[in-house]
Order: sequence, then structure tokens, then C-alpha cells
Amino acid sequence: MDTKVRTREVFRTRLGFLLIAAGCAVGIGNVWRFPYIVGQYGGAYFVLLYLFFLLSVGIPLLTVELAIGRASRSSMAYCYEKLEQPGTHWHFNKWWQFSGNYILMAFYVVVAGWMLFYFCNFVSGNITPGMTRETAGQNFGELLANPETMFLCVFITVLFSFTIVALGVIKGVERFTKPLMIVLILLLFFMACRSFTLDGFEEGIKFYLKPDFEKFEQNIGEAIWAAMGQAFFTLSVGFGAIAIFGSYMSERHRILNEAVFIATFDTIIALLSGFVIFPACFTYGINPDAGPNLLFITMTVVFSNMTFGTIWGSLFFLFMLIAAVSTMIAVFESSIAGCIELFKWSRVKAVVINFVVIIALSLLPMLGFNVLSDVHIIGSNTGILDFFDFLVSNNILPIGSIVFVLFICSKSGMQWDRYIKQCNIGKGFKMPTALFFYYKYILTTMVIIVLAVGYYKIFGRA
Ligand code: ALA
Repeated sequence: MDTKVRTREVFRTRLGFLLIAAGCAVGIGNVWRFPYIVGQYGGAYFVLLYLFFLLSVGIPLLTVELAIGRASRSSMAYCYEKLEQPGTHWHFNKWWQFSGNYILMAFYVVVAGWMLFYFCNFVSGNITPGMTRETAGQNFGELLANPETMFLCVFITVLFSFTIVALGVIKGVERFTKPLMIVLILLLFFMACRSFTLDGFEEGIKFYLKPDFEKFEQNIGEAIWAAMGQAFFTLSVGFGAIAIFGSYMSERHRILNEAVFIATFDTIIALLSGFVIFPACFTYGINPDAGPNLLFITMTVVFSNMTFGTIWGSLFFLFMLIAAVSTMIAVFESSIAGCIELFKWSRVKAVVINFVVIIALSLLPMLGFNVLSDVHIIGSNTGILDFFDFLVSNNILPIGSIVFVLFICSKSGMQWDRYIKQCNIGKGFKMPTALFFYYKYILTTMVIIVLAVGYYKIFGRA
């Protein structure tokens, strides 16, 4: 038994920990963002670029957060205080990093609500067969114009996720996320295997993964920025959501092992999602170049034209919904654990208050599509949801990750030796101590450059 675990819940099984941490990572980013940016930026070349960032930035950042969580046995609320040297002020960062949990969820739950809406529509047979892109686009537009329907869908998904969190780490989060993730994997494998039998399989996979150097070279700056941004978003690093699971982790396994598992699992889900989406698009002659609307418009058209489309559409949106809900449960757990530690609330009180806060915050991105559609904070084509996404993906995640890395490297922070020691507790791959220079200078510089490219992309051309 671990030494510090008696006062704090620790996951009952290693599989529980791994699936929950992977559940935090696997989400809309894998199924919604990954496939369309791969298609957009040059197929296999982009995948290679993404894998480079996953190995060079993503996995190190996962180990940093897990080590901070396990060493402090605390959430964002006190992880800095427990590890920093006396008299230092690293802990001031906790406030804005902790807020990342709320800003991310404020828009994430809206997209999860759309998943629920489409799932229900497929199950109830409301999606009529033979739908055209125009009709599907119109239906999606009607949903966005209707805050009441969106609110109901968001309310249900948020209530479901918080109910699980209210039951506790073992009796709620571990007990429910494990089977949810297993269902998610089975659904994905089932749908991906079925993709092989579709007429458009070859063409779809060509579009998705065929190395297209011209496309890649044309947008190389954007592709680098998108690949690194995707690595941050998909792994949920930079705001303490992974650290909280480090704090519930046992000391039986080394941290690098677990980080490699989480990143590999996440990448397999992302890659396989493309195997489901693109062959289906090409089989039904639907242009998959639809960017962010790929799922809600393109996939609706695809399924409505497919034999047994109601069943396939229901399964697909159920899969999406589970991916989104697993992330919501994990991020809500991070906020709840933080509030329990900060304010000494009971779990139930923290859940009730956080439920109200998240629902209230989600109103902004929701209303941004209708009542507040004139509000454009970062560009005339973007709404409040995009602004929240920008705050999290382009600011809190990368800057939070740099702060975490500097914290473990700094003499006034956790200190490198303690980080290495923490990583190497238990069985598994050893974290090499020689990586100090790489973490402190190369990794942080890479993130800063890509951050600057992101700002230029958004503001520089205005
Ligand atoms: N990691 C989460 C996702 O990919 C945020 O959706």
C-alpha cells in the first residue's frame, strides 16, 4: 500500500486509472478535430508531424502533470504550495490554470449537447433517409438558432456527468468511466471494421492518409501550429486535469509507462475515427472537406443515405457522446477536487455549485449562435464558442504547460531531481535524468514559437 494514500482515494485498479486518464484525453478532439485537420494538411505527412509533437512535447507534458499530481497528492488547489520552495510564488499560477477547467467545459458541453441531439434524432428516426447537404445544413442551423433545445441537451449531458462525479472517485468516476471506455473502444472497432467493407474505403483512406507533399508544403506553418495545438488539446495538458489523476495514482508503476499508454491509446482512437469517417464519405459521394462541420452536417448526410443508416448513425453519435462525456467526467472531477480542497466543501456541495456554474457559463457560447450572434471577439467569422476555444487551446493549455515544465525544472519549484525521482517510483520505463536541458530550453522554446505563430495567425493578418 502507498504511504500517502490513506487520506486520499486512489484508483482501485491500474486499468481504472489508465482508462480514466485516457478518457480525459479521448474526446471531441480525437473524433472531431483530428480527422479533418489530417485531411486538410497533407494526410500522412501531417500524421508524422503530429506524432513528432506527441513524442517530443505531449508525452513529456503528461509525465510532468502526472508527477506533480502524484508527488503533491493534490489537485490544482494546492499542488504548487505542496511542492514549491518556501517563500516562492509559483502558486499564483493556480488560479488562471484552474480556470481552464471551467472555460474548456463552458464550450465543450455545448458540443457534447449537439452529440446528444444528433444521437436522439437518429435513434428516434427523425433523420429522414436520403438527406441532402442543404437539408442537413439547414437542420444544424436550426439547432444553433434554438437555444432552448441546446440548453436541454447540455443540461442532460452535464447532469449525467456530474451525477457520476458526485458518487466519488472510486464509486463514481472509476466505476462508470471504465465500462464507458470499453463500450467506446468496442463501438469504434466495430465501425472501423465495417468501414473495410465499404466501396469507398480505398478512396477514403487515400484522402485521409495519402502523403500529399504539395498540400503539406503549402500550409507548413499552419500545419505545425495545428499539430502542436492538437497534441495539447487532445491530451488535456496544461490546466491540471491530468495532474488530478496523477494524485489518485498508485505508486506501483512508473509515470513514463502510463504517459506512453495514454498517448498511444488517444492516438489510436483518433486515427481509427478517420477510418470510420472518410470511407463512409467517399462511399456516398460526399465531399469530406467540411472542416469543423464535418460531423454534424457531413456525417448526417452520409448516415441518412446509408442502408441501416439509423443504426449506424445512432452508434456513431453514441460513440461521440461517450468520448465527450468521458472527458467531461474527468475535467469535472478536476474542478470538484479543486473546490473540495480550496473551500473545504463536501463533494455533494461542490457538485451542486459547479453544476450551476458550468450551466451558467455554457449559456454564453450557446447564445453566441443566436441571441448574441453579433458578438465577435477574435474575428468577424467567429463567435463566443470560438473565443472560449481560443482562450483555452491557444493560451491556457500551452502557457500552462510551459509553467508546469519550468516549475519542475526550477530550483525554487519542484526541482528536477524530485521530478525524476517521482517519475521513477514503481516498475516500468525509467525517465532519463539527462533530459533536463531538453525540457528547460528546447521544449519550452518550441512551445513559445508555436504559440507566437498561433497569435500571428489570428491577429497578425487583421
Ligand atoms: N482532450 C479532450 C479532447 O480531446 C479535451 O476532446
